Amino acid sequence: MNLIHRPRRLRKNRVIRNMVRENHLRPEDFIYPLFLVEGVGIKEEISSLPDVYHFSIDQLEPEIKELKALGIEQILLFGVPDHKDEVGSQAYSDQGIVQEGIRKIKEIDSDMYIITDICMCQFTDHGHCGILKADGEVHNDETLEYLGKIAVSHAKAGADMVAPSDMMDGRVGFMREKLDGNGFSDIPIMAYSAKFASNYYGPFREAAHSAPTFGDRKAYQMDPANGKEAINEVMLDLEEGADIVMVKPALSYLDVMKDIKTNFNVPLAAYNVSGEYAMLKNAVKMGLMNEAVITETLLSMKRAGADLIITYFAKEVVKELRGK
Ligand code: PBG
Ligand code: ZN
Repeated sequence: MNLIHRPRRLRKNRVIRNMVRENHLRPEDFIYPLFLVEGVGIKEEISSLPDVYHFSIDQLEPEIKELKALGIEQILLFGVPDHKDEVGSQAYSDQGIVQEGIRKIKEIDSDMYIITDICMCQFTDHGHCGILKADGEVHNDETLEYLGKIAVSHAKAGADMVAPSDMMDGRVGFMREKLDGNGFSDIPIMAYSAKFASNYYGPFREAAHSAPTFGDRKAYQMDPANGKEAINEVMLDLEEGADIVMVKPALSYLDVMKDIKTNFNVPLAAYNVSGEYAMLKNAVKMGLMNEAVITETLLSMKRAGADLIITYFAKEVVKELRGK
């Protein structure tokens, strides 16, 4: 047959397919989340997140070295404190689990780029992401004061970047001002800008012991039905000085990513969250899908415009890419 266009010509073999590939996954695209717990001698698999562990600080060294050897030099740090109270005081204590962890990681490898999640839900006894008013609502402006203190204490301990995940209004500008005022004008802010009130966070809340004891997060996280509002959130965060913006979760919000990438010229991060990880991980374990489904899924985020992907799959994907 006399066909002019035969797209299959460029799919004929591995070499030509590699030559025309549009998107790639590289170790430096991935940010690996790490969960720190108090105590000693703890390296415990998180039941809701197979192959992901809780580490006490003294157990970090082999993990940091393994990441480095894989070419993953950027991590997102979460702390799970023993002591929780109304105002999440362990979140901004200089002896808090995150602050101690940062110092230890920098001692193990001073080049490891440490991004810290800034929120209060792991640290408050009520599990909400801010300070509560008497009526149980989260007080926006009062929470900002605490978020500012947390950001500064992380920077003081040696964090390279801070990532507010609380969804309070004005937090990026507030943190910027506090960081600058304390001599940290060179510390970038990666804002969880379009963070949706999602059911995909379930396994994380078990891992971080951060589920709210009452109610939900719908009064501060975004409504999953809203796409245009995400553009607005990003615009506000950029006006306030965000350096990198994020969409979270990733998979059900690829359209939002694409929209953001076409409207703004800043690096975009996708958070491939715990529920997305658990779904695929369990499907592969059950033999329902081949494990190549993981790179296929991560590539969808790249296609949608993500420059960076925060993912629990980082280590295994990099290992697999190496094998090729
Ligand atoms: C804390 C926070 C959450 C996640 C990251 N930071 C949970 C939440 O908002 O309840 C979710 C990460 C994941 O599911 O992998 N605010
Ligand atoms: Zn939170």
